[in-house]
Amino acid sequence: MNNLPRHVGIIMDGNGRWAKKRGLPRSAGHRAGAQNLKTISEFAGEMGIKYITAYAFSTENWKRPKEEVDELMNLLLSYLRDKKILSGKKVTIKVIGDRSALSDEINKEIDVIEDYTKNNDGMVMYLAINYGGRQEIVKSIKDMYDDIKEGKIEKADICENLISERIYTPDVPDADLIIRPSGEKRLSNFLMWQSAYSEFWFSDINWPDFTTADFTQAILDYQGRNRRFGGV
Ligand code: IPE
Ligand code: IPE
Ligand code: MG
Repeated sequence: MNNLPRHVGIIMDGNGRWAKKRGLPRSAGHRAGAQNLKTISEFAGEMGIKYITAYAFSTENWKRPKEEVDELMNLLLSYLRDKKILSGKKVTIKVIGDRSALSDEINKEIDVIEDYTKNNDGMVMYLAINYGGRQEIVKSIKDMYDDIKEGKIEKADICENLISERIYTPDVPDADLIIRPSGEKRLSNFLMWQSAYSEFWFSDINWPDFTTADFTQAILDYQGRNRRFGGV
């Protein structure tokens, strides 16, 4: 328990394949996946994990058929509205990503849930919605440009910390562990800046089938890794 990852990223992938295997529409997979996030995040919080970032919708997921995008947005809306479940376990909910492309309705619910859970003292769960790691880095550079223009910083000040301070999660440790189920072994634009030294845990299980036992196994495997950060 004294070697828990502080920050775990989860790429919730495989909802569509989960549904297909059962002869169900993809939307049923997304619903099952959203349900599973509640189970896994509650478990992670009880285990003592401090930060979870869950990849819910990428900046590239707009490429999907409009029908599926609409379903995903509706699901996010009902997820955000589920205040009792989300805050019951002392979880603080925060959303990261480019909110400008999200509907007013979703933006309103994000404000409500963030405010509703802000004094909870358990785990912090970041929901990555319209999130892209590259977009996040571009955003931080734009923010830095404003500070340069206002004379707050100059070229000589630019360093890694100045970028880390301008990403969506400035006060959060880099991701110690990134979990990706469903058999894909790629980052898909998730936490690019924060994953420089992340440990990765892959499995063939589709996200809706990913259990608390799988989560525990990922943590145990993580604890057996030797993180050198370039040292010896
Ligand atoms: C992940 O499941 C959910 C989102 C990307 C929103 P997918 O919908 O990508 O499921 P597969 O990869 O098609 O099985
Ligand atoms: C990554 O999954 C995004 C989310 C889980 C939200 P994708 O299914 O979109 O990733 P690719 O397209 O297989 O790389
Ligand atoms: Mg996928």
